[in-house]
Amino acid sequence: MLTDKMAKALNDQINAELSSAYLYQAMAAYFEHLGLRGFAKWFDNQVLEEMIHARKLYDFIHERSGRVVLEGIEAPQHEWESPLAAFEAALKHERYITSRINDLARVADEEGDRATQIFLQWFISEQVEEESSVGEIVDQLRFIKESPHGLFMLDRELGQRKFTTPSVEGE
Ligand code: FEO
Repeated sequence: MLTDKMAKALNDQINAELSSAYLYQAMAAYFEHLGLRGFAKWFDNQVLEEMIHARKLYDFIHERSGRVVLEGIEAPQHEWESPLAAFEAALKHERYITSRINDLARVADEEGDRATQIFLQWFISEQVEEESSVGEIVDQLRFIKESPHGLFMLDRELGQRKFTTPSVEGE
């Protein structure tokens, strides 16, 4: 059974994950509009990952006999100065999500909720991966400095990213 404080914090995280999905869908649309389909596809896959993150929280709350309460999602930004600016914003966003997951782990600790602590381990590892994959693309974009050839090559590379469904149960 979740404490009220823990259930509220997990519900807030569902909102943060779905807000991430909405932001990344806006980024996918931005790249689609620029004609950079590989970048767009990369963000489309990111959207699916965020929905899975939200779903894992949703299922966990129910498993612990908690109540899921969905809140509103704000309209995301839809325009960026450049592909680099969009990816820098994505990296900043992932760092924000990491800090939220760390806060959640702190609440689980304060509530003496061992099951939630263990559940959150998956998210802690996932955030390391998330920051690393976005950070790598930021580095590449800084390196190519918006050269059309460099952008074209990176777009092609990112378009080949395959979406692999992480286990919804966890590990
Ligand atoms: Fe669900 Fe990208 O963090």
